[in-house]
This record gives sequence, C-alpha cells and structure tokens, in this order.
Amino acid sequence: MLFLSFGVFTSLVSSAAAFDAVGGSLRVRHALHEDHGKRFFNFSSVDRYRGEDFFDDTLWSFITFAGPSGGQVKYMSGADAQAKGLAYVQPDGKAVLRVDSWTNLPFGAPRDSVRISSMKAFNHGLVVADFASMPSACSVWAAFWTNGPNWPHNTGPLAYSGEVYIVEGVNLKSSLVNFLGSPFYYRINLRSTPARNQECSVPKQAPVIGGDRAFTAEVLNTNCSSLSTSDTGCSFCDPSIKSFGQGFNDAGGGVFALLRNRNGFKIWFFERQSIPNDISSGHPDPYSWAPPNAFLSADDCNVDSYFSPQTLILDTAICGGWASSDYPNSGCGGNCAQQVTSGNNFVNATWVINYIDVYN
Ligand SMILES: *[C@@H]1O[C@H](CO)[C@@H](O)[C@H](O)[C@H]1NC(C)=O
Ligand SMILES: *[C@@H]1O[C@H](CO)[C@@H](O)[C@H](O)[C@H]1NC(C)=O
Ligand SMILES: *[C@@H]1O[C@H](CO)[C@@H](O)[C@H](O)[C@H]1NC(C)=O
Repeated sequence: MLFLSFGVFTSLVSSAAAFDAVGGSLRVRHALHEDHGKRFFNFSSVDRYRGEDFFDDTLWSFITFAGPSGGQVKYMSGADAQAKGLAYVQPDGKAVLRVDSWTNLPFGAPRDSVRISSMKAFNHGLVVADFASMPSACSVWAAFWTNGPNWPHNTGPLAYSGEVYIVEGVNLKSSLVNFLGSPFYYRINLRSTPARNQECSVPKQAPVIGGDRAFTAEVLNTNCSSLSTSDTGCSFCDPSIKSFGQGFNDAGGGVFALLRNRNGFKIWFFERQSIPNDISSGHPDPYSWAPPNAFLSADDCNVDSYFSPQTLILDTAICGGWASSDYPNSGCGGNCAQQVTSGNNFVNATWVINYIDVYN
C-alpha cells in the first residue's frame, strides 16, 4: 500500500513538473513523455503463476471453444488435458502445454491441444512471462495474449474490449523471413473496437523522446481499430532471430513483458542473455529498461475506454486464420490439413513456462 501510494504520488509530481517547465505544448504528447526517465516505481502486489500449483483451477480455466479462426484443433478440458499429458508440471517446476504428438489422425480430423485463460483479469500493471521454449512446428499458431470479457463478440454490449498479442507467430517462418534476412519473428498486435468513430493507431515511425525511440520494432500496420476479429489491428515485428520459434528455443528462451498504465501499453522482449537484473530479482522496474519493442500511446488511443481489464491466454492453435494463410509461403510441406494427420509433426509444438508474474 505504501509503495503504491508513493508511486502514484511520484507520477503526479513528475507530470506536474514537466508541465510547468515546458508549458502547454506538452499536454498534446503527454503520455509519450510521462514514463520517460521515471525510476523506482514499486508495485504493491504480485500474482505468481509458477511451480507445481501452476495449473490450479483457481488460477486458469481451460477454454474448449476453438474461436472464430476455427482450424483443425480440439482444445481439451482441464481434466482431459492433464489425463492425456498435454498439461503438466515437470519435476523441475516448469509448466508444459503441448499438442498431441503421438496420435495419427484421419485427414480432416482435429488435433488435441490446450488453451488456458487466467481466472483473474488485470487492468494497470505489469505482466512478466519467462518461457524456456515455445511451439515451433508447421501448421501451428502459437500465442501468449490477452483479451477482454466476451471475446470473440465484437459489437454491441458484448464487445470483447480489446486484445493484445504479447507474442504470436505461425509455422516455421524460416523461408518467408529468411527472405528479409532473419529466419524467425514474432508479431505484436494491439486490437480494439472503435467507439463513436474514434480510432486507435500507432505512428509508422517511432517518435524520439529524450534521445530514445519510443519503440524499436518495425510497424507492420498502423491501424489498431478493428471491426471484426479478422482485422489485423496494429502490429509490430521484431526482426531478432531469437524472438520466436526455433531461434527463441535454441537461445534458451527469454522474457516478454507487457506494461499497462494510464499512458498506454508497452511490450518488451528480452533474450535470455539480456534479462534485466531487476526482473531476475523479482523487483521489475520497467522505467529503467531500454525502449520497448511496441508502444500504443494513450496520446493516440483512449486506451482505458477501449481496453477493458484483460485476462491472459496461452494457446497453440492448429491451421485456420493466419496459420493457413501463411502456410503456402512457410516452407512447410504439403498443405496444412495434411500436416495435421501425423502426430510426429508436433513434437516441437510445446510451451515450456518458467513463470508468469503479474504485478499490480
Ligand atoms: C523501490 O524499490 C527499490 C529497490 O528495492 C528501492 O531502491 C526504491 O527506493 C523503492 N522506491 C520506492 C518509491 O519505494
Ligand atoms: C481503421 O480500421 C477501421 C476498422 O476496419 C476502419 O473503420 C477505419 O476506417 C480505419 N482507419 C483508417 C484511418 O484507415
Ligand atoms: C524438432 O526440433 C529439433 C531441434 O530442436 C529438430 O531437429 C527437429 O527436426 C524438429 N522436429 C520437427 C518434427 O519439427
């Protein structure tokens, strides 16, 4: 409580000071500047998802609904996933989510996989997720993301209230992105429903604040507003060969972080070798980190009215949506549906989670 009050107090003082010093012009780009140079904000509480209690049914629900992208996936209930060995905690305390990689299926049949969704929703706060490895396989669509209640309803009172892909990718990506000079990538996607004709967007080029770029990833799409779940939303691409799939796994994984505060959303990726000490010590200080990969600024989006509190989701989809549209250019053989028939194709379709912490 004390830490929280102090943090709020600090942010009020520093924004007031910035305003006094530079005058009204700062009001226009207020959110962009407000986080810059801030230090030692301490979070007041943390929800930890780790160790042998990882799959406790007070923490996650297993979502059996396949979602609007369909595909050839059958998401298991918690009891079925654990009985079948698709969701378990290793003796070393790492949690594992996998796809059935031992059953051969008739053409067209869906393959068993897992989608989990946190029981708790978070509003302002910081998500820190450390993965030892992530799915890398032809036909899979792996994502660690968040959404609002009632997803995937996208209009009316049941509107899904935003979604944020902290890390997302499909297939192997090697041939497509080799073309651009880097074999693996992930995509960050911030999507929200526009209201009263207002819109959310990100600038194509990152503005520079105090000598630092506001974000470092390449912007693929600037328009965050979407009217259906098939709209892309705004997206960013990290060209690092270690940020997704096999390259990520070969480098021993890494850490993803999502900060949500009144200035918007920021997303970071840290390679295993470059994880800040304050994360490792359990006192993350995002205001001391290098510029984020992605940033949706409250200057460009009324974030708090478009994005409800978000729940965390971790899943491995199979074919459908982006996995199928990318497939012909993925370097994977045959077609997506053929790929699904052989269990052995899914030996690497596995999330290994060191921990996920949510600081409030
Ligand atoms: C936050 O924690 C750090 C490290 O423990 C400490 O140095 C700093 O003074 C704290 N800041 C506040 C505002 O409490
Ligand atoms: C952004 O996307 C939304 C949803 O498709 C659309 O209504 C809007 O016109 C787009 N805005 C721009 C500037 O293209
Ligand atoms: C799984 O990953 C290993 C490397 O870690 C690779 O040698 C193997 O070919 C992959 N198998 C499939 C089916 O993708």
